[in-house]
Amino acid sequence: MKTIAICNHKGGVGKTAASMALAEGLNAKGYRTLLVDLDQQTNATRQAGAKIEDAVTVYDLLTSFEYTAADGIQHYEHGDIIPGDTLVADAEVEMSKLDTPLTMLADALEGVEGNYDYCVIDCPPSLGIVTRNAIVAADDVIVVVVPDTASVDGFGKVYQACEAIRKNKRLNPNVTIAGILINTYDARGRLERSLDEQLPEVAENADTKVFETRIRKCVSVRQAQSAHISLWDYDPECTAAEDFKAFIDEYLNQEEN
Ligand SMILES: Nc1ncnc2c1ncn2[C@@H]1O[C@H](COP(=O)(O)OP(=O)(O)OP(=O)(O)O)[C@@H](O)[C@H]1O
Ligand SMILES: [Mg+2]
Repeated sequence: MKTIAICNHKGGVGKTAASMALAEGLNAKGYRTLLVDLDQQTNATRQAGAKIEDAVTVYDLLTSFEYTAADGIQHYEHGDIIPGDTLVADAEVEMSKLDTPLTMLADALEGVEGNYDYCVIDCPPSLGIVTRNAIVAADDVIVVVVPDTASVDGFGKVYQACEAIRKNKRLNPNVTIAGILINTYDARGRLERSLDEQLPEVAENADTKVFETRIRKCVSVRQAQSAHISLWDYDPECTAAEDFKAFIDEYLNQEEN
């Protein structure tokens, strides 16, 4: 199982949209996929139609040794998901009482390693203990940015968190930033031009790259999310769906090389 954490310290950049498109797109290609919703906003969980009440959620996996990932898995038509939970807002306090607060998710996921090809983790817009659990569990981190300086600064924060985790051999010395994915791209935009100029160097300094594929701004993404319908069902031919397909192919190609 390859585990991919979708991160940025900055909110609203498209982490959830990208996580769902990636997990569901890989599933459509025939891969066995598990989506993990680490965000207390539970947007991915609601879009997937997974239940939170009376279910084992990421909150249980993060705060207790009583459960393993297998207890939390729910099936839906585009793959499997471990639901998020609004209680995750309080998880950090609970987790700070544990001896191993940073490895809770990695440990829980170990039991299902053999059942999936890809696990995609949708992270909250922060770099607290919860997101760092995702980085500890991940093989690859993908940072989503939009054309603004705040999300590029957010990338820097993710890079620092990854470095700290990589340096600790008990955490995750092998975690790699697979690349930066630019979302809501408009080829005619002024901010986009400055991003195209600056970002490759920012990426290179962090030993990573900018993905060639950009995800264009597309109203169907927002509409699909508000209607709680997968983008692949809502409008599989829209520009963003087309871009996400190209991105998945680029990611898979990069993996092969
Ligand atoms: N390519 C796109 N085109 C148009 N709208 C988009 C695109 N990507 C995301 N959006 C919209 O932007 C908003 C934020 O996206 P999303 O929820 O995926 O971001 P996020 O980074 O997960 O946010 P948060 O930090 O709050 O978890 C949503 O309303 C989403 O539908
Ligand atoms: Mg989100």
